[in-house]
Amino acid sequence: MSLIPTPSRKHYHLFDQEQIDHMYFDISPAGEIDANKYSLFNFTGDPKLEYAEWESRMDMMNSWFSDMKKSNRFLYERESIDGSKIISQVVDPETGDIREMLNFASNDYLNLTQDKRIWEKVKEVAEQYGGGAGGAPLLSGTMRIIKELQEKIASMKAMEASIVYTSGYAANVGTISGLLGHKDIAIYDMFSHASLIDGSKGSNKKFFAHNDPVSLEKVLKSVQNKYINKLVVVDGVYSMDGDICNLPEILDVAHYYGAWVLVDEAHATGVIGKNGKGTVDHFGLEGKVDIITGTLSKSVGAVGGFVSASQKLINYLKYNSRSYMFSTSPYLPAVSASLEGLKLIEKNEAGQDKLWENIQYVKNRLLKAGFNIGNAETAIFPIIIGDDNKVKEMTYQLHLRNIFVNPVPYPAVPRKLTRVRMTITAGFSIEQLKHTLNQVEEIGKDLNII
Ligand SMILES: Cc1ncc(COP(=O)(O)O)c(C=O)c1O
Repeated sequence: MSLIPTPSRKHYHLFDQEQIDHMYFDISPAGEIDANKYSLFNFTGDPKLEYAEWESRMDMMNSWFSDMKKSNRFLYERESIDGSKIISQVVDPETGDIREMLNFASNDYLNLTQDKRIWEKVKEVAEQYGGGAGGAPLLSGTMRIIKELQEKIASMKAMEASIVYTSGYAANVGTISGLLGHKDIAIYDMFSHASLIDGSKGSNKKFFAHNDPVSLEKVLKSVQNKYINKLVVVDGVYSMDGDICNLPEILDVAHYYGAWVLVDEAHATGVIGKNGKGTVDHFGLEGKVDIITGTLSKSVGAVGGFVSASQKLINYLKYNSRSYMFSTSPYLPAVSASLEGLKLIEKNEAGQDKLWENIQYVKNRLLKAGFNIGNAETAIFPIIIGDDNKVKEMTYQLHLRNIFVNPVPYPAVPRKLTRVRMTITAGFSIEQLKHTLNQVEEIGKDLNII
């Protein structure tokens, strides 16, 4: 490597079999790796890191984080002391003071985490069942309340059967890895959630352009006759963009080429479709999708994940999906909260109408102000900026004004599409939204974003 270390640069040894190499980083005035010049990718994704000892890898990342902390721009993992509320009590990482913040960083779209109707029922169930399930279902048995939840999910998703997992992550990894072997392939929308992609670590994968059936067709043609089974994987609603999957066309193309289709309904359940049934219902495609997965941790307000499909596929997964087979069943009060949450959603008594009023209000205001929000059409709004430093600055300025949003820098999304992510929940009043959007607009103008 030709770079020469200077006092303003820091180097880390890298080892490989033939030579000792180095990685160099510019140093900030605070004496740490300059947070403004590097992204998380430099410390998690750079292939050179494979040659660095663990100690060096950790030092690099910690120094980069320290630099962000020293300039008060470290706004990850902010601590709340009272749960996921519309106005949350959040500890200021800089001063340690408690701030009352409007919470636009939660996926609790219907605010069911705080719903007293659910909590009354959860207390009763906790009296009856206690806390943990005591073991994995195949050997330790299952609980009646888990079966009830599985049946409720299957009926809501218009599928024959369901099983539940401890998280949406476990459901996605467990379903895809349970199905795919070395001679099979998963074909993903390029914006698919990490939990879906992680499911095919031990098998084959390809990606198609986001929401683009023409691109999907190209990929399917290119893999024809090369694999035994093909699984097309999409999100119903995309977690960083808030747009809805072009499911009718994707299904047509996938089925034409003999592929199965899996839809992850994490951000669609409770939000779109009749009474929040999800994307499949939204498009009237019941019975056409092969596998539906999802989470109980977002609009349902609890924690856990699920997969719904034909009875024979669910039976197969029970004995092939390792995150189901080798993991204790979900925490029973959470199972109860999920069941009650789904009942409220099913009856349209979970505030869905107010959520949609709020979504429309925010969408109109952001578009009118001139922000780039991509194709957002649900409760997730990306404010696309395409400049990591402006993304951090906007998040920080909003933090100072007691508005909690999330920065989404590279490599979570491509560099040109880095953004601030705002999620809208049913509990906000129009006054609260108006106040927030006034602040967002003011900061947007100061930073030359609009
Ligand atoms: C699209 C999508 N699928 C799956 C998950 C994982 O769900 P969970 O948080 O329940 O593990 C998430 C979110 O975290 C998600 O956004």
